[in-house]
Order: sequence, then C-alpha cells, then structure tokens
Amino acid sequence: MKITFYGHACCHIEIGSTNILFDPFITPNEKASHIDISTIKADYIFLSHGHNDHIYDALSIAQQNDATIVSNFEIYQWYNKQHNYSKTHPLAQGGSWKFDFGKVKCVNAIHSSSFPDGTYAGNPVGFVFETPEGNFYFAGDTALTMDMKLIPMFTKLDFAFLPIGDNFTMGIEEAVVAAQFIECNKIIGIHYDTFGFIVIDKEQASQAFAAKNTNLLLPEIGESITL
Ligand code: NI
Ligand code: MN
Repeated sequence: MKITFYGHACCHIEIGSTNILFDPFITPNEKASHIDISTIKADYIFLSHGHNDHIYDALSIAQQNDATIVSNFEIYQWYNKQHNYSKTHPLAQGGSWKFDFGKVKCVNAIHSSSFPDGTYAGNPVGFVFETPEGNFYFAGDTALTMDMKLIPMFTKLDFAFLPIGDNFTMGIEEAVVAAQFIECNKIIGIHYDTFGFIVIDKEQASQAFAAKNTNLLLPEIGESITL
C-alpha cells in the first residue's frame, strides 16, 4: 500500500485502485502550505470526529472527487442536511461494513467531537481496515484505552496510525503501550508538531518505540511510503 502523509492527522492510502483519505486538514495548516489539495485523489474520505483539525477540507475534496464521506451518524447527517452532500456512509462503534476495497470496522476512541460551530458531532471513532493488501488501524484522536486490546482479537494488523503529540491525545509514552495493546510493531505517528501544544522530540519518540521493538515512521508532509 502506498501511504502519503499530508500533515497533522491527514493520511492518504492507495489500496489497489482505490484512494482513501483520512481527516483532511490541509489548507489551514501552515506546515502543509506546499500541498495543493486540488491534486489529492479520493474515492473515500474517512472522518474520525467533527473537530475542525480533522474535517476542514473534507467537503471540498469530496466534491472535487465525488468521494464518499464515511463517519459517525451525526457527521453523516451533518453532510447530508447542512451541506446537501449525500454521498456518505454512516458507521458506528462496533459496526463493520464491506466496501469495494475491503472491510472497515468502526472502533472506540476516547476524545470529544463537535462541529466547528460547537454543535454535537457524535462520538469520536477510529477505523480498522482489513483489505487484500494488508490490515491497518487509523486511531483518530484518542487517549490510550484498554479497548484497543479488542482490536487484535479480531484483526492482525500490519501497521497503524497513532496520535503521539500529547496534550489533546496520547503522548509518546502511552502510544508505545497502545502499539503493544494492538500487537503492531509498525506505527505511523500522527497529530504532532502542527501546533505549539503538540510539538514532540522526534528522536526521543523513535527511541521510545524502538525500545519496545516497534518501528515509528514519521514521513515528511507530502512524503509517500510503501508498506
Ligand atoms: Ni480532536
Ligand atoms: Mn485533533
């Protein structure tokens, strides 16, 4: 799978001929000013929760690609009703759906979720993907939670996206434990360095994961890696 990091929690994955985007927050991100969102391809856009730093560019990228927005029920309704965008799919925690590229399960995240105007945006979630090219977990914004131990009971992960920036989500110490809970030794760090509250020491982060035989990947914004 080809994975491209677009900064903050925004990641893009190509699974076969399907383009999947997570949590697009690009145009307001000064660190991603070299990314031109009109070049981003998406068949599906998965949104972990309603916060602005996860949905800011979702509608424009969805419209330009005729992409399906997948998120919790409240966010699904918001795009349908507030934005008249109906190419959407609702998923709630514990639920799975077979898409054309593979199966996605919606799982718990410990965080909050509101829209930019402050209204309720359901519960925050993560997503577990099972595809013919490999399995992975996109955690979204979350604290470390024992619920993560449920994931490997059902899915053997090849890699995972975990937040590591602390303050709003898990920090490095907890993310190292999360990697053990999900039984995955290849982690792509997200949700760090975007704002002053979440600046990390990348070298220290890599060493903390390496001490538990886990590889922490921190691609540059705009960089693609193949896993
Ligand atoms: Ni958030
Ligand atoms: Mn966030």
